Amino acid sequence: METIQFWLNDELIETDESPGRLVLDYVRKNRLTGTKEGCKEGDCGACTILVGHLEAGRVRYEPVTSCLVPMGEMQGKHVVTIEGLNFRKKLSFVQDAMVHRGGTQCGYCTPGFVVSMTWFLMDRHGELTMDAFKRSISGNLCRCTGYNSINRAGEDILTAVSEGGPYAWIWEADDRIQALVDEELIPAYFTQMPERLAAVAAPRPNGAGAEFFIAGGTDLYVQRGEEIPASRVAILNHHPEMRGIREDDNALHIGALTTFTEFAEDEAVRRLIPRMDDFMWLIASLHIRNRATLGGNIVNASPIGDMTALLLALGSALVLSDGTATREVAMRDFFLGYKQLDKRPEELVTHIVVPLGTSNTHVNFEKVSKRKALDIATVCSGARIDLNGDTIVSAYISMGGVAAIPLLLRRTAAFLAGREISAETVRGALAVAQAEVTPISDVRGSADYKRLLVNQLIIAHFTVLFGQHLTFEQIHGASHG
Ligand code: FES
Ligand code: FES
Repeated sequence: METIQFWLNDELIETDESPGRLVLDYVRKNRLTGTKEGCKEGDCGACTILVGHLEAGRVRYEPVTSCLVPMGEMQGKHVVTIEGLNFRKKLSFVQDAMVHRGGTQCGYCTPGFVVSMTWFLMDRHGELTMDAFKRSISGNLCRCTGYNSINRAGEDILTAVSEGGPYAWIWEADDRIQALVDEELIPAYFTQMPERLAAVAAPRPNGAGAEFFIAGGTDLYVQRGEEIPASRVAILNHHPEMRGIREDDNALHIGALTTFTEFAEDEAVRRLIPRMDDFMWLIASLHIRNRATLGGNIVNASPIGDMTALLLALGSALVLSDGTATREVAMRDFFLGYKQLDKRPEELVTHIVVPLGTSNTHVNFEKVSKRKALDIATVCSGARIDLNGDTIVSAYISMGGVAAIPLLLRRTAAFLAGREISAETVRGALAVAQAEVTPISDVRGSADYKRLLVNQLIIAHFTVLFGQHLTFEQIHGASHG
């Protein structure tokens, strides 16, 4: 068995641990019990750690839920648990802010919060706003404090690094990690990590005889987590050829291992989907977005995958490879039945091809769930509408949660093509869409409720995208009149 070499806080580790074992279980077994096990499904953030990788000579850290991350993926990485942020004889800056503001009660969630809040200071791409702070802890749940005291600790942190604050220069520093070390806000060993990681071997692709193929693992570990540690696993993230986003004249070619975070940060994606950031907060918490992959979301074949619905509406195609031959299949033809795919066992989805848009391309995503955000949808829907003046050239609308598969509303698209944007057109589309969906009642809502949501989400697409022509009342009033 190959060993796994990685840095765990300030210590170089070489272990023959099973690559499918969870990082959470490994660190806790090795007496780093500050990292807590809560839900073990990626929902609560009690198990939050930072994982750092080398990027252009510096280490880029991301907060992730260690209850969904396999040990095999840690080769060559820096794993930071709450213990790795501690100072020997004092509280860290973030810990002090939490104590000062009473941000901890039972304390079970506190290590996870402190890790996420420390990452807020470490992230060179972040904004210096309270909104950004709140987003950095969006993957952490607390059942005691009601969050106000934690937010007050966040305000203190923000004040300290804002103009006029004692650490204001940190936010502008070219090397944020070095600046945080200089001010003793994180331990000194962090400055040595680029050199240390460069000396550890890069991971090697594996996969022969694998029983489990792990990408982000955010659903796989929830469903099959008990079986994986004792099984042969392929760590797909060791395949760099399946990562990254390339743009040519016609399309974006997106590696299937691209994470939700990487997708949302890409400039070409943001040109096509200007409100991508807003959609991300409906789709998943920061911690999950840092792990969940586009390919994993599609191959999971859930009829209600949010990212799947969005990619389906974009008119995407999938590239599949069995290692020797590749083929392309339109995403709308990929889903054959409940959890059935046009994919042979030996094939992997390696890329997603998304056609580029023009200035007349309009994209929207809507979702209704029991909780306002970060929940499984009752119904979700993507829309991509291309116009010529006020005339619809093409209109792809997807629906998740209303059939056995993620559904592209083909007859609705055929109805809309060539029509003017108007209340009458939308009402016509609603009638066609109702004949295309076959929702069932389940814990997330009754069939009737989901049918109602199909109408409401289509109306939402048109009013959000073309509110200057249409109002909700114009369409909705008449459709129920
Ligand atoms: Fe809850 Fe990991 S234990 S997110
Ligand atoms: Fe008890 Fe947050 S302090 S869960």
